[in-house]
Amino acid sequence: MPTFICLLLEFILLSHALVVGAAPVGNEEAPASKQVLILGGGVAGVIAARTLREHGINDFVIIEARSELGGRMRSHSFAGHTVELGANWIQGTQTGSGPMNPVLRLAQKHKLKTRETDFESITTFDHTGAVDFRDIVNSADEAYVNLTKAAGARVANDLVDTTSRTGYSLVEAKPRTAHEHAAEYFSFDWEYAQKPDQTSWIAASWNNNYTYGADAGGFSESNLFARDNRGFKHLIQGEAASFLKRHQLELNATVTRIEYTNQGVVVTLTDGRQFSGLYAICTFSLGVLQNDDVIFNPPLPHYKLEAIHSMTMATYTKIFFKFPYKFWFDTEFGIYADPERGRYPVWQSLDLKGFYPGSGILVATVTGDFSQRIEALPSSFVREEALGVLRTMYPNTSIPEPTDFYYHRWNADPLYRGSYSNWPPSFFVGHHENMRANVGRVYFGGEATSQKYFGYLHGAFFEGQDIATMVAKCVKTRACPQLKHVDHVKNTPYSQLETTAERTRTSYTHELVFSLLRQLIL
Ligand SMILES: Cc1cc2nc3c(=O)[nH]c(=O)nc-3n(C[C@H](O)[C@H](O)[C@H](O)COP(=O)(O)OP(=O)(O)OC[C@H]3O[C@@H](n4cnc5c(N)ncnc54)[C@H](O)[C@@H]3O)c2cc1C
Ligand SMILES: *[C@@H]1O[C@H](CO)[C@@H](O)[C@H](O)[C@H]1NC(C)=O
Ligand SMILES: *[C@@H]1O[C@H](CO)[C@@H](O)[C@H](O)[C@H]1NC(C)=O
Ligand SMILES: *[C@@H]1O[C@H](CO)[C@@H](O)[C@H](O)[C@H]1NC(C)=O
Ligand SMILES: *[C@@H]1O[C@H](CO)[C@@H](O)[C@H](O)[C@H]1NC(C)=O
Repeated sequence: MPTFICLLLEFILLSHALVVGAAPVGNEEAPASKQVLILGGGVAGVIAARTLREHGINDFVIIEARSELGGRMRSHSFAGHTVELGANWIQGTQTGSGPMNPVLRLAQKHKLKTRETDFESITTFDHTGAVDFRDIVNSADEAYVNLTKAAGARVANDLVDTTSRTGYSLVEAKPRTAHEHAAEYFSFDWEYAQKPDQTSWIAASWNNNYTYGADAGGFSESNLFARDNRGFKHLIQGEAASFLKRHQLELNATVTRIEYTNQGVVVTLTDGRQFSGLYAICTFSLGVLQNDDVIFNPPLPHYKLEAIHSMTMATYTKIFFKFPYKFWFDTEFGIYADPERGRYPVWQSLDLKGFYPGSGILVATVTGDFSQRIEALPSSFVREEALGVLRTMYPNTSIPEPTDFYYHRWNADPLYRGSYSNWPPSFFVGHHENMRANVGRVYFGGEATSQKYFGYLHGAFFEGQDIATMVAKCVKTRACPQLKHVDHVKNTPYSQLETTAERTRTSYTHELVFSLLRQLIL
């Protein structure tokens, strides 16, 4: 961008600041001026606010499009119960006196009702009905552990990343049957929301270890399922209520435009209102950044765009059924092996002691491409299709009509554009740095910018905390840490290869010389 435009922008921003400084109270023309604008009120945004406050900075505002805080912690009233459309588990808790998942700490503080999930409580099905293949499910769990271990050996030997599919094959786990595919799905896709061949081998293994592997600095292997009538979001809303002042929060405020320079940031809302800040912390999801839902001015630099578009925003969809009575398995999960991998493979019962007994609620999950497919279909079609699967699982039972049915279209939702991020094998460390790097005075933080915990609530928590700590330093010292970025991510794998034609010619020449020599000698 030509310098004069930058200068012009700075001039405009500075004059805004001057106008604000001189403006009489209540002047509607001038953008409300703050030290820090926090864009988005999910876990990252709320924790960023809490962190600024801990550093003595109170001149900030959280700007959130929805009418409540929580973001992807989103509860929904369904058939008289509170169910979670988004995050539902505290993933990894604490081992002994080791590191504690900060989300667990919040849950304890706000007395959230949770229940440990038992992933071994499963019943298995295929197209013929109930069939016991639990041994195959156990073996897939073992293959997953082998996958993460072998990734460690790759890292130790400085080998390139590949897909998790390559990893599975190299540890001799090669699913062929529908049972084997369903079992692999339950330990892999159901976590990453994408297939092994769409997912990095090394990053997925790190992500797993840092959360679940106590010997890798992770929390623990346990998963706590929130089943609180106030919603899982209560832990973040309750936390916000404990420190946030009314004037520090703008709800129903959708950002459409972010103008930034090295001097400040001005954001414009859909209703035309403007806010200006010395700094901004943008916590919008990776999907929002990818889909141009918010326009940056000047446009984001190329290195930033390449990074944003190189990470994947995956989709994980929960499909809720309410039946007049329970006719299904007494375990926590039903695993269904369809001939088509990923077709309604995981069913979770909430009509269980410790969850919502007597509720008649059964939840199916689909992920990745299958999520995109059902988002594009009418709900009535998806309802019938999934009921068809239940009839296949229970060939001798007459399945009652559900009295309620719901799923949220996360990928179509303009405030999210997917569920959570997943690291593909073509995403390099340079991309990661670039995705996290600030542009001018806009800093980025959220689940997707977390190198260790991408995808998770605790990833959003730590990023909100880290970025706000950095921005607090900027406000206080005016000596701002600029996050590292590289202009070009380089790994030219092809340039050093000879072409096939060259190789053939060389060996042909060698052979020719050899045979000439042989003839001379003989
Ligand atoms: C279906 C599903 C299941 C999940 N399961 C789990 C789980 O069990 N355990 C777990 O740890 N994690 C889970 N996650 C991931 C977890 O929910 C996220 O990692 C975390 O909530 C992300 O927090 P965040 O603050 O980074 O982003 P967000 O929660 O997305 O916060 C960003 C905020 O910005 C707002 N916003 C967006 N665009 C605009 C705009 N233009 N103007 C103003 N505001 C805007 C949004 O409304 C949102 O409130 C799940 C997510 C989904 C969707
Ligand atoms: C936000 O909008 C909702 C309706 O969409 C309304 O009920 C609520 O009062 C509004 N909240 C604020 C703070 O304006
Ligand atoms: C369903 O009923 C048929 C006929 O009685 C029986 O052969 C079959 O085993 C039953 N299937 C299941 C899954 O119970
Ligand atoms: C996991 O690795 C161990 C040790 O190499 C091996 O014995 C076992 O068969 C592997 N498990 C699976 C399911 O591949
Ligand atoms: C993950 O943890 C396992 C078990 O501790 C370890 O063997 C492996 O090296 C780790 N993987 C990575 C990628 O660090």
